[in-house]
Amino acid sequence: MEKREKLYEGKAKILYATDDPNLIIQYFKDDATAFNAEKKGTIINKGIMNNRTSEIIFNFLENHGVPTHFVKKLNDREMLCKKVQIIPVEVITRNIVAGSLAKRLGSEEGVPLAKPVVEHCYKSDALGDPFINIYHIDAMGWATREQMATIDELSLKINALLVNYYRDINIKLVDMKLEFGVHKGQIILADEMCPDTSRLWDATTNEKMDKDRFRRDLGKIEESYAEVVRRIESRGNK
Ligand code: C5P
Repeated sequence: MEKREKLYEGKAKILYATDDPNLIIQYFKDDATAFNAEKKGTIINKGIMNNRTSEIIFNFLENHGVPTHFVKKLNDREMLCKKVQIIPVEVITRNIVAGSLAKRLGSEEGVPLAKPVVEHCYKSDALGDPFINIYHIDAMGWATREQMATIDELSLKINALLVNYYRDINIKLVDMKLEFGVHKGQIILADEMCPDTSRLWDATTNEKMDKDRFRRDLGKIEESYAEVVRRIESRGNK
């Protein structure tokens, strides 16, 4: 397998073609952005840590029947993935009120939700990933209702699996963002699984162990990401 031309550069990752039209290489950068790229910075070794957490979590999910784009880790910063056509809908699952939901509902952060909540946003940096619903997705042709039913079902399954996974390592999974794509006609989980895209709180202290440390200038960013890696490595992918 050979690395070929750059296909796409996003805020945290670069995608490269390979000599196999069904496979791409996903490269993890240290760049960090927040508030729709108004705030920019670097988290040292973030790319290495997010590649590692994504590898273990994708393997764990595959082991529990969730189809993902992950094929194998190639090196510290790169993983080989199935090429997908990304569905431009970001799915957010939530277990505890935080972030934009706290603002939208006028609720305090930290209030547990009686049931998991699923939200959809249009994946568009230019528009700041606006909140949308199934009618917009259907009318705009971003995904069919059938595809969205599969995506929502998979999202709730992933959320339930990961709530338990993180509970085992004394972490609360507050919320996370998921992206899906189509590969050979099948909906599979894509993107990355890491503290950039999930809110993770220490279950004993409620200390934030995710990108909110960068967004909110809380310090100890690298240390928190490293602690998440350490706990995920200790839990493994079974
Ligand atoms: O900001 P908000 O509360 O809507 O974020 C919910 C979850 O989705 C958080 O875990 C956040 O890190 C993630 N997210 C993301 N990318 C976005 C928006 C949110 O990873 N563009």
